[in-house]
Amino acid sequence: MQARTFLLLLQLAGLGRCLLRDDLQAAGVTAFYPGGSGYDAASQTFNRRYTFKPAAVAFPTSSRQVSDAVKAGAVNNLKVVARSGGHNYIANGLGGKDGSLVLDLSQLKKITFDSATNTALIEPGNRLGDIALALNEHGRAIPHGRCTYVGVGGHAAGGGFGFISRMWGLNLDVVKAAEIVLPNGTITTVSSDQNPDLYWGIRGAASSFGIITALTFTTYPVPTSSVIFRYGWVFDIDGATNAFESFQNFVDKGIPAELGGELVITRGPSTGRVGVEFFGAYWGPLSSFNATVAPYLATQPSPTSQTISSGNWLEGLEVLLYGALNTSTAPDPLDTFYAKSIMSPEAEPITKDAARSFFTYLANEGFASNTSWFVEIELYGGSNSAINRVPFDATAFAHRDTRFNFQLYASSSNSAPPYPASGFTFVDGMASSIISEMPHDWDYGAYINYPDDRLQDWERLYYGAHWSRLTALKRSVDPQDVYGFPLSVEE
Ligand SMILES: Cc1cc2nc3c(=O)[nH]c(=O)nc-3n(C[C@H](O)[C@H](O)[C@H](O)COP(=O)(O)OP(=O)(O)OC[C@H]3O[C@@H](n4cnc5c(N)ncnc54)[C@H](O)[C@@H]3O)c2cc1C
Ligand SMILES: *[C@@H]1O[C@H](CO)[C@@H](O)[C@H](O)[C@H]1NC(C)=O
Ligand SMILES: *[C@@H]1O[C@H](CO)[C@@H](O)[C@H](O)[C@H]1NC(C)=O
Ligand SMILES: *[C@@H]1O[C@H](CO)[C@@H](O)[C@H](O)[C@H]1NC(C)=O
Ligand SMILES: *[C@@H]1O[C@H](CO)[C@@H](O)[C@H](O)[C@H]1NC(C)=O
Repeated sequence: MQARTFLLLLQLAGLGRCLLRDDLQAAGVTAFYPGGSGYDAASQTFNRRYTFKPAAVAFPTSSRQVSDAVKAGAVNNLKVVARSGGHNYIANGLGGKDGSLVLDLSQLKKITFDSATNTALIEPGNRLGDIALALNEHGRAIPHGRCTYVGVGGHAAGGGFGFISRMWGLNLDVVKAAEIVLPNGTITTVSSDQNPDLYWGIRGAASSFGIITALTFTTYPVPTSSVIFRYGWVFDIDGATNAFESFQNFVDKGIPAELGGELVITRGPSTGRVGVEFFGAYWGPLSSFNATVAPYLATQPSPTSQTISSGNWLEGLEVLLYGALNTSTAPDPLDTFYAKSIMSPEAEPITKDAARSFFTYLANEGFASNTSWFVEIELYGGSNSAINRVPFDATAFAHRDTRFNFQLYASSSNSAPPYPASGFTFVDGMASSIISEMPHDWDYGAYINYPDDRLQDWERLYYGAHWSRLTALKRSVDPQDVYGFPLSVEE
């Protein structure tokens, strides 16, 4: 007997559930199903290493439709996930495995600014570049990352670091309130005085508890000037170790909140060498920029390349952000890659031995690797960081003591599938070259917005000391684990 006929008989007998398709149709929700037209395009992942087959990809147009679709998924025993910009590294926007109901929120695109409260209501289907443009119309801005195509739904859910975060915090730190759909379909608002437990949980682990259908952000006046800079060197292992060690010292020596950025490490021109770049932004006047970075530059040889551009806020973003600011004007490039992160605590600096081990690995294995790779040593902490000023228990984000977030990333050599098996061992080796040289009980973490589904001990590394409070919240809000996906909070 055909499966469909069997289900129909069950339904006639009053024993089975309606098919998902019937439930979504009854709610007026457009969706694509396996085998149907539009399904393959709707199942495309940013990281082409993954090719999951969802049960359906639905395109709700309102929070009411999101709610109806969540109920339809739950009653049909499906996992339900949201997709905003689709940039999750392990395709969790597609459920992170086969058979989930995907709610694509790209139709939820409203952005409104309230000049009385200086807050912006932003729906999750908006991309970061478009948000920056829309808020700039009002002379306002929020902190966020560099890729214009990233969706704000997934960005705010787990963090949202950018080069202005030392001044304004992470993207989730400016979430004042949110409208979310709970796993039982209830549409509710969370804020400091409405559902405060959920308000806590969605700022660091939103996807495990709710589907965000609107975010209310506190906004800032745009900085009056910007300086975007890159200083580049080619170093041997000693030189790179020194460049890193000096940077780690420099960032604790009273740098202003207006300075943000990272060290970027890339393949060197020959074995035993690496490219190192100090890439960052200074949200102050050009006249005080040189003096701000001078103490670091004084510890290093003259850079072999440098670009410094100054301008207003939007001119700064145009140089800084990766991708078209207006994301409707150009397509979003895809990739085929594996990535990990290591968040290093301020209390336990990277030792010289660990730094040397890391740069030895990158200069040798990195030169030999048949991947296209980079490392970004993102500056979260250092003097005057707004990220680390937020009390540890104020949000579910578990890493308020981070100095650096190391992003370790390797694409296939042409950015297309297949991904070489050697890419996994290469990136794992980057991480262990640091960790194996640090004390055994080193209290490092990992960043949930750069998720790695091969990571051991991920509960502790991603969610840290908040894990037990998160699991208790999960038990009370989502006992059926409707919002379940790789690395989600579990009961
Ligand atoms: C090229 C590139 C550059 C990046 N740069 C940075 C950076 O500079 N700084 C930084 O911090 N991060 C950066 N990231 C990581 C980025 O923050 C995450 O990938 C982010 O989660 C993507 O959000 P999304 O909505 O595009 O992805 P999606 O795949 O749609 O969603 C990501 C996760 O969030 C869930 N989710 C999506 N929407 C919602 C919602 N409305 N409610 C609840 N859960 C939801 C999804 O189910 C999924 O688990 C970058 C990623 C890429 C690919
Ligand atoms: C800043 O320093 C650079 C050299 O690093 C120099 O070329 C430039 O003129 C200086 N700019 C200002 C405004 O002092
Ligand atoms: C973005 O580009 C699209 C297509 O060219 C255009 O219709 C839209 O007005 C632009 N948006 C902004 C904010 O400039
Ligand atoms: C390098 O990777 C590409 C594709 O990612 C593959 O076609 C090629 O065979 C690989 N080369 C080696 C030497 O492994
Ligand atoms: C839905 O879940 C929330 C949170 O657990 C609960 O407060 C609410 O009563 C539930 N609603 C229904 C209709 O079951």
